[in-house]
Order: sequence, then C-alpha cells, then structure tokens
Amino acid sequence: MAGDKQRKHLVERIERLKKEMRAIILAHYYTVPEIQDVADIVGDSLALARAAESTDADVIVFAGVYFMGETASILNPDKQVLMPDDRAGCPLADSCPTEEFRAFKAKHPGAVVINYINSTAEIKAESDIICTSSNAERIVRQIPEHKKIIFGPDRNLGGYVMKKLGREMILWQGYCYVHDAFSWDVVRKAVEKHPGAELIAHPECREELLEHADFVGSTSGLLNYAAKSSGNTIIVATEPGILYEMQKRSPEKTFIPAPKDASQPWSTCTQMKQNTLEKLYECMERRRPRIVVEESLRRAALRPILRMLEMS
Ligand code: 13P
Ligand code: SF4
Repeated sequence: MAGDKQRKHLVERIERLKKEMRAIILAHYYTVPEIQDVADIVGDSLALARAAESTDADVIVFAGVYFMGETASILNPDKQVLMPDDRAGCPLADSCPTEEFRAFKAKHPGAVVINYINSTAEIKAESDIICTSSNAERIVRQIPEHKKIIFGPDRNLGGYVMKKLGREMILWQGYCYVHDAFSWDVVRKAVEKHPGAELIAHPECREELLEHADFVGSTSGLLNYAAKSSGNTIIVATEPGILYEMQKRSPEKTFIPAPKDASQPWSTCTQMKQNTLEKLYECMERRRPRIVVEESLRRAALRPILRMLEMS
C-alpha cells in the first residue's frame, strides 16, 4: 500500500464515488483496517447480510469474500453488487461441491438441511435454512426434536452446536483453514505465558481448543464479550483482523492474537486480505467485478436465507 498521502487521496475519491453512485460499502471485520475505516458498515456475516437486505442504496460494494457478495446479490437482484476482488473466495465454502453434497443429502432423506452462510449459492439452494455463527444455535433449537438435521459445511461449528445443545446432527466434514489451524498444544503456551489472561475463541475452531476457552462466540459475540470483560489481557483465537475493532472499543486492554504455530504468531485469512483500498476504488470506478446470480438459482438460494432472517 502506498504512503499516507496517496491513501488519503484514494479515500477522498472513494467517498466522492460513493455519493455519486448512491453506494454503500459493507466490510467484514477480517478486512484490513483501511478498508474498515472507509466502510459504511463493518460487521460479521449476519450483520452484513441484514445490512444488504435493508439498504436503499443503488449500489452495494462488498469488501469480503465471494459468498458474501453473492449473498448480497441474492438478496438484491435489482441493485448492482460490486466486489473489490471477485477471486477472493472462501475455501470453506469451496470445500462443499454441489454434486457431492446432493449425494450426501440423498443418504439422509427427510433430514432438515441447515447450511452455514459460508457456502456457495448452489449449496444454499440445496438447503432448508441458512445460518451464521451468530444464530446457528438459535436456529437448531427451533427444529423439532424428532427431525434429523444435516449441518454443513463447517464441522467445527456443527460439532460445537451439537455439544452445546446435546443434539445429534449429521455433519459435512468441511472446515475453515484459518480457525482449524489453532491447536491447544500451541495456544496453551501463550496462555501459560500470560497468567490471568482470558482465552476467547470462534466456534470454527477445533473442539480441543474450544473446550479450554473462557468464552466461545461469533465475530460479534467475541467483540461484545471483549468490550464487557473485566479482564485486561485477552488471547483471541480467530482471524486477527477483528483486533482492530476490539482495540478501538477497549483501548486500555491488551489483545493477543492466538498463535498458529511457533513461527506464525497469528492465523490470517489470505482471501479477506485480498481486499485493498486500490481495488475498492477501481471496482467502484469501473463498476466491476459485478456479482450476478442466475435468476432461478437466485430464487432457490433466497428462500433459505429469508428463512434464516425470519428465525433469528
Ligand atoms: P462470522 O462473521 O459469522 O463470525 O464468521 C466468521 C467467518 O469466518 C467469516 O468468513
Ligand atoms: Fe472462509 Fe475461514 Fe476466511 Fe472466513 S476466515 S472467509 S471461513 S477461509
């Protein structure tokens, strides 16, 4: 990224375009700070889906990963949805190919299919209900006890909800490489190095880590907990982009990203970091890449997303 002067100039041009285009910029907490600073709304997956649903802007510019822009487009067929980089995919979403998922579903007829929002439009279209890490528990609770549930594509989030609710689910075995990378063996050393520190973790982390955490929550859950906690030092097992907002909310506290291994002091989502200020500006100026979902697929994928929004 260029120097401060060039950055300021880019931000001014983005602000100007935003007004001219009647655009809203949505960004996930995992994006880099300069993207978060220029966004109208920074949020977790649920907050951003809600913002995409309710905005009256003409153009939605989505700084996140592909499934997020796609979800915004599914919710808003009449708006232009732009992304700084449409090659920023989510490997978790991509770990669930449609044909294989259909075959998996066929083995469990009658099961209610709940898929995480981190999934492709095709997988959403195969689902009864979508969930995010903020509302997964609440949605599973609403499914009658006698019903079987298929949960995908994140096995760690699914396993966490199963354990918390004491309810069996049939899990697709996908995972997020960013969160699954944390092992208790490595994180324990950071905990031992900071006596008295709290450990908080995202439910996409493995069970071996979650069972040692003082608090487990979605991105917004972790942010709220960190702001309210009376602890001064908090070790955070999730994507470290979240630390920017945590530190803003609680400047007096020390936040330590949980280490991935001895040589890597944090675990980063490379795809989220593909959103740069330059690409943000360019996508607005050129009005591309634009995310468009074919209409019959869009309608099929919309139904379980709306169901989620009703149920949460
Ligand atoms: P949430 O924003 O729902 O916490 O999900 C985290 C994540 O991995 C986004 O890709
Ligand atoms: Fe996908 Fe994980 Fe990156 Fe989220 S953090 S976008 S789940 S790879």
